Amino acid sequence: MQVNGQTDGIKKSVLDALVLLYDVKVPKDQIFTEEMVSLLAEISSAINRELAVYIDRKGNVKDVRVGDSRTVSLYPADNRKKETGLSGIRCIHTHPGGSTALSELDISTLKQLRLDIIVAIGALNGKITGVSAAILDADLDKAEIYGPFKPMQPELHELAILAAERENKGREMNVIVQEGKERALLIGIETSKTPVISGVSEAEISMKELVELTKTAGAEVVEAIVQKRPIRDATYLVGKGKLKEIKQIVQTKDIDLIVFDEELSSSQIRNIEANTGVKVVDRTGLILDIFAGRAKSREGRVQVELAQLNYLLPKLSGQGTALSRLGGGIGTRGPGETQLETDRRHIRRRIDYLKTQLSEIKSQRQVVRREREKTQIPLVALVGYTNAGKSTLLNALCAAEVFVEDKLFATLDTTTRKLALDETTTVLLSDTVGFIRKLPHHLVDAFKATLEEAVLADLLIIVADAADPFAPDHIRVVDEILSELGASGKPSLVVWNKWDRVDADFRTPYFGDGREELNVSALTGKGLEDLKVAIKKVLEPQTEVVKLIIPITEGWVLPYLYENGTVNEVAYDENNAVAEVKIDKKCISRIRPFMMTQSVGKQAPGQNQNVGENGYDPSCKQ
Ligand code: GTP
Repeated sequence: MQVNGQTDGIKKSVLDALVLLYDVKVPKDQIFTEEMVSLLAEISSAINRELAVYIDRKGNVKDVRVGDSRTVSLYPADNRKKETGLSGIRCIHTHPGGSTALSELDISTLKQLRLDIIVAIGALNGKITGVSAAILDADLDKAEIYGPFKPMQPELHELAILAAERENKGREMNVIVQEGKERALLIGIETSKTPVISGVSEAEISMKELVELTKTAGAEVVEAIVQKRPIRDATYLVGKGKLKEIKQIVQTKDIDLIVFDEELSSSQIRNIEANTGVKVVDRTGLILDIFAGRAKSREGRVQVELAQLNYLLPKLSGQGTALSRLGGGIGTRGPGETQLETDRRHIRRRIDYLKTQLSEIKSQRQVVRREREKTQIPLVALVGYTNAGKSTLLNALCAAEVFVEDKLFATLDTTTRKLALDETTTVLLSDTVGFIRKLPHHLVDAFKATLEEAVLADLLIIVADAADPFAPDHIRVVDEILSELGASGKPSLVVWNKWDRVDADFRTPYFGDGREELNVSALTGKGLEDLKVAIKKVLEPQTEVVKLIIPITEGWVLPYLYENGTVNEVAYDENNAVAEVKIDKKCISRIRPFMMTQSVGKQAPGQNQNVGENGYDPSCKQ
């Protein structure tokens, strides 16, 4: 008996522990044993690889396999029972990173191997975040997905019976299954201090966004309430009367989750949970949850975990254990409740570790950035509110395939593509994470690295959805966050996207603050050529013509001028060379000591921001 798959680089002690799984006999009424999945979760998150165990209907472990962080190779299950159609084998596998969702690959494995059932165990920090499962339908054609469940939830283990019964088609199925979608009640607060934007209370606008966020997180919005009250209640946030009403709604409408459009203290969460009997999440928790489910790159994942732990730390003492978050769904992705059960010191150690990881990733990025600076290709960053169409615009401009989805925060990691503006000019175009109102401050910090593209860009393209009546307000939010990131004052263009969705007589809500505004449609291609021209105009190199007296002892200067500019004329006297040169403004600081006169050329804002520690621009050739 041996562990199969990609075992290279895995310690012998770990493989020895995994081999012991072959000795496990799974009881008849269970899909797996609790000890088995706990061990899988622990090892899987420690080595950051997927692990899979294949078990037959007698409960014998037939195969134990190691994969990489996303996939695990298939067990060669060619023992499909011809007469029944299923292989009689089930696959229990882990998702390091904590996601309980079954991937497309998981579903195709289920179909390809005709498995009785495929089970995904979300594993994070050694603990199980939740369990999802899929079985084939009665025609053994489509997959049916169930969960997330707790590991030992009976409905999960009954699925194996359901799958087996499917083979003897026609029998009544009598298994309770959880549909997976949590039913959410949304609560917002409007006080006398809540601002009014374009005639609408900010609480209403924010609630509209919370509805989208909740859907993006995978829950069903059953009802959304904005309560008007003079001040926020310290114990329950809402008043006692409202809380009674909420409790009634929870009971009559079968609510699983209450989402508050405010940041709640740990005691408020505890009090409301104790009173209503259902899970309570605040806006920050919800956003973090979406981020946890969507971050794809190593950097994205590290940043999200860091943000989640920073969010959890002050709440540590408060969370009750009665409402365990192990059941899956919103608020459980990522470190979740299991982290709450560990001590603060452990979390702080993990935070330190993640910070080190992040700085390592950052320094790797710096190497890439230096490469870019050497090539002097300007960087243009697309920034804007979530769902404004940044990824679609990047696709349309660069004909590149970037993840586009009509969900908030489809883009969590920066994507950079080359964009040819014309035959001679190329820029790098970066997509960035979407901005949002009340962006949790933990996230502003944690996502700075992702938004570094915006901070470092030579030009920012602020993308707004022209069809959204609140777009001008969104741009204001974007400006605010850019300024928090220290990126305000950079050259920028405002692009009103989705122009195909507005009426012919619609007028651009022009800002008039000096920024050029363009109307485009990433979908139809309208205005994209104009956008390229506008980008080129802003980025055109800004040069100056200067005269220099160069002592002949400074032999490096003339070659430097030839390398970085156009030398119009040179004359020599006994001790000096006198030269006139047209040179990029970025390179001037180096030759300033020799300058006689200076004719001031037009300079694009932000052009001089690349000056290195010694006062020289690193992009000028030495
Ligand atoms: P985040 O990743 O959340 O920041 O979103 P994003 O700004 O990158 O938006 P994305 O490109 O994912 O587009 C969001 C939705 O808007 C998708 O359904 C797109 O198809 C749609 N969309 C984008 N551009 C246009 C457009 O010009 N016209 C129309 N009608 N729809 C568009």
